[in-house]
Order: sequence, then C-alpha cells, then structure tokens
Amino acid sequence: MLIRRRRGWELPESAATPEAAVLQRRALLGAGAALLPGAAAAQRIGDAPPAPPLPAHARNERFEGGRALTPERDATSYNNFYEFGTDKSIWRAAQRMPVRPWQIRVEGMVAQPRTFDVDELIRLMPIEERVYRLRCVEAWAMTVPWTGFELSHLLRLVEPLSGARYLAFETAALPAVMPGLRQSWYPWPHVEGCTLEEAMNELTFMPVGMYGRPLPQQNGGPFRVVFPWKYGFKSGKSVVRITLTDRRPQTFWPRIQPSEYGFWANVNPEVAHPRWSQATERLLGSGERVPTRLFNGYGEWVAALYVNLQRERLWA
Ligand code: MTE
Repeated sequence: MLIRRRRGWELPESAATPEAAVLQRRALLGAGAALLPGAAAAQRIGDAPPAPPLPAHARNERFEGGRALTPERDATSYNNFYEFGTDKSIWRAAQRMPVRPWQIRVEGMVAQPRTFDVDELIRLMPIEERVYRLRCVEAWAMTVPWTGFELSHLLRLVEPLSGARYLAFETAALPAVMPGLRQSWYPWPHVEGCTLEEAMNELTFMPVGMYGRPLPQQNGGPFRVVFPWKYGFKSGKSVVRITLTDRRPQTFWPRIQPSEYGFWANVNPEVAHPRWSQATERLLGSGERVPTRLFNGYGEWVAALYVNLQRERLWA
C-alpha cells in the first residue's frame, strides 16, 4: 500500500527475511508469553490501562472461516496501522495507545445522535464470536475469531434518517502515541466509508475482541469495523466517530492514490491491482498460497448489494 520512492539502502519486501524464518527465530529466542503480542500481559506495555475481560459470549456457527484459524501470534504481530508506522511490526508501539476510557460518537443524519462509552456499548449490544476471513489488498490473508456485534444493531439505536446514504468511520488520531501522524502527506485522521445498505448487511461487524480477548491495539482495539468481503483497508481500526451522511465520504486510500484504490474495494481475484495480481493470497502463519475468491467467498450475503451498481468501480 505504501507509495513512496525507495531510497538506495532500503530493501524491497521480496528481499526481506522470510516471515517463517523470523517467527522461528522469535520462537528460539524464547522471550516468554509476556512478550508475545496478544498475550494479556502485553496489554500493559506503556501507560495504557488494560481493557476489562470480554463478557461471556458464544460463537455464531453460521460464520465459519472454512480454513484453519490463523495463529493468534501471527494475526497480532503482522499489522497494517499507518498511524503507528508503515511497516508490519507496529504491535509493540501500539501498546501505548490508551484504550480506556474510549468513546464513540454516532452522529449526522440520525434521529438520536449519541456518544457511547465502549463498555456501555459492550453491555448494550448482543455480543457474539464470528470467524471471518480477512483479505488484504496486498495479497495476504488471515482467518480470525472476532468478538463483537453487528453494526446494524447499533444503527437501529440511533435511528438513521430517510436521506442517509453513507457512513464515514473516523479513526483515532493521537499524536502523543502515534508517530505515523507526523507523516503529514497522509490525510489524517484515517477515514473509511460504506453505504448505509452495506452497513446494514448482517456481515458488517464491529469487533471489540479477537481470540476471546479484548481487541489488542495493533488490530484496532478497542473498537473497529470489519467488512469481510472487501479488501482489508476498508476495515478501519480504533474507530472514534461514525457519521451518517447523504454524500459519499472522501476516504483515506482513494485520496492518496485514486488510480489504485477506490471506494468500494470488493475482493475480486480477476481484477488485478495495477501493480500485482489478486488471483491468490498468502495465508499468515502457514505461508501457504491459496486462490482468492470473489467477494472473499461472501457473495451469498453481499452480491445482491451491487447488482444495480455495475457502472461503479466495484473491485478496486
Ligand atoms: N485502520 C487504520 N486506522 N489505519 C490503518 O493503517 N490499515 C488497514 C485496516 N485498517 C489501517 C486500518 C489495512 S490496509 C488492513 S489490511 C487492515 O486494517 C489490517 O488489519 P489487521 O492488522 O487487524 O490485520
């Protein structure tokens, strides 16, 4: 996703140490559970107080990954979170982001605009676990058990007005803990968006946890959105504001590079990114390459959303 000129001393990703070798080395180092991302102990690195444990909840078996779960260690140590930096190993830096208290404002074209505390939201919403596949536009993928709730339940509480057509998700911008914000050529804060119809689809999920624990900061804790049928860049992390509007929001990646990234970003193996094929994906953890599926395999839920939108650039 990074668009910049490489300087002479910088390595292309292809020349970097293979991930498996790095992980093996890490295992040999035997740093202990407390130093592994995702471990509860890691929540306390830096100043951030820990999130309370998740309430008891069950897995919704309707949503199966169809693949082995990605090992937690891989899903929580290989991340895109540009607010903390542009490489994949920001997990330790992200621990400095305070996750309590955390408020989410839902406003704009709604009858009941409201500010929620994240713990209030967890109490109010029907919390469940769903295993979803996530496919990054960079052609890696993971299969993760998220704990959270359907966005549609939250939207019903605030009562969208009849003219509302889109949602904008604004994510946290905390200069004291996010060194990436100093990269002023990026259009901070990170904003993502979708249509109201997409938001109301039962797949659109708001995780507050993963692997049965509170969502770690590097994966968008304490609260994020996930659209499993779209490229991962649509799934904004650490959301602080949701605005309903009648205008399509200007979103982060299309503002940076509109020829490569669009608003819809639905997964399609047959539509290549201008710089690489999207036909296959590399599974985090095993490193296996597998075919990519249309809508990331979620067509039965979402294909109908797009039947009247064939003139749009649905796949970029
Ligand atoms: N959200 C914010 N705020 N900042 C980001 O840089 N990266 C996106 C998305 N959400 C990003 C973000 C991209 S490119 C991907 S692939 C996913 O988060 C990765 O989520 P994960 O690290 O939990 O796998």
